[in-house]
Amino acid sequence: MNMLKYKDLIEEGDLVIVYLDVRHLYPVTIKKDEVFQSKYGALKHNDCIGKKFGSVVSCTRGWVYVLFPTPELWTVTLPHRTQILYAADISLIIVQLDLKPGSVVCEAGTGSGSLSHALIRAIAPSGFLYTFDFHEQRVEVVQNEFKAHGLNPYVKVQHRDVCSDGFDVDQVADAVFLDLPNPWDAIPFTVKTFKTTGGRICTFSPCIEQVQRSCLALQEYGFRDIVTVECLQRVYDVKRITQTVISFDNMKSDDSSSLDKSMEDDFDDPEPQQSSSKNGSASNAQKECQTVTHWAAIPPLQTPGHTGYLTYATFMSLNS
Ligand SMILES: C[S@@+](CC[C@H](N)C(=O)[O-])C[C@H]1O[C@@H](n2cnc3c(N)ncnc32)[C@H](O)[C@@H]1O
Repeated sequence: MNMLKYKDLIEEGDLVIVYLDVRHLYPVTIKKDEVFQSKYGALKHNDCIGKKFGSVVSCTRGWVYVLFPTPELWTVTLPHRTQILYAADISLIIVQLDLKPGSVVCEAGTGSGSLSHALIRAIAPSGFLYTFDFHEQRVEVVQNEFKAHGLNPYVKVQHRDVCSDGFDVDQVADAVFLDLPNPWDAIPFTVKTFKTTGGRICTFSPCIEQVQRSCLALQEYGFRDIVTVECLQRVYDVKRITQTVISFDNMKSDDSSSLDKSMEDDFDDPEPQQSSSKNGSASNAQKECQTVTHWAAIPPLQTPGHTGYLTYATFMSLNS
């Protein structure tokens, strides 16, 4: 199948993403007469063949969605051989490297190919990805995945130690991406991979000490506009909450219990409402307070963890 060309109907040999719920997604290659087992029972592959991507398919104890395998879905379902990059960092990398159809990119290391899939989608059909890893087995596995996903025309994977042997490609790249334990050792070699018109580089490192060494190497080798950012994803919960409106009359009084707040998770009524409740004596008009119910965006109680620092820089044109 070709992951870059959406098609309507599932055929034998296609990769589908079986979606049970937001936390349970599985990559399955459809093979005649085979069965995929999940908490919803057996999914017969034969029942998927001829169905539209995105359909609901019945299992013996429920149903699942069968989805088209986009690079985003591949990232959350691929078999891990290494730590991988996720959508939040990937999206920033693609924007900051200024990638578009036709761009040529050099990447090291390939790892599990999570970023590679997204890079290829961004630069196809006229661009190209050269990707390098010094781990022979990982190179073999990712090569097979690229082939199975129809990505071979846009990528060449090479088994190579880029820190000692460089990149084996001269003056071809618009952009270079490094996800290595020691990117500073590869940076000197990146200089000759860039087109004479120059380009952009990005390194990904979990530790600030790695960033410091990379920045020094970038500076030494003539890179400009060196910037390090950290991309933290913060997802807000939208909830309906009821709050007490602060009454200045109440603030003048001693009774602070009138400022109690209550929250509720009720999504039924989208319109803000006003109501009044009484604290203390009903006859005391000053102690009457109002509540207002409205929708609110609640920040997460836990912030998702640090993934790494992204350091960007520009390699200036050799002609400038
Ligand atoms: C964290 S993984 C990369 C993950 C990848 N970005 C992804 O999204 O799937 C780092 C990879 O760099 C490779 N590597 C480490 N040092 C290398 C070197 N000097 N030359 C080539 N590859 C190297 C490792 O074998 C490993 O597969």
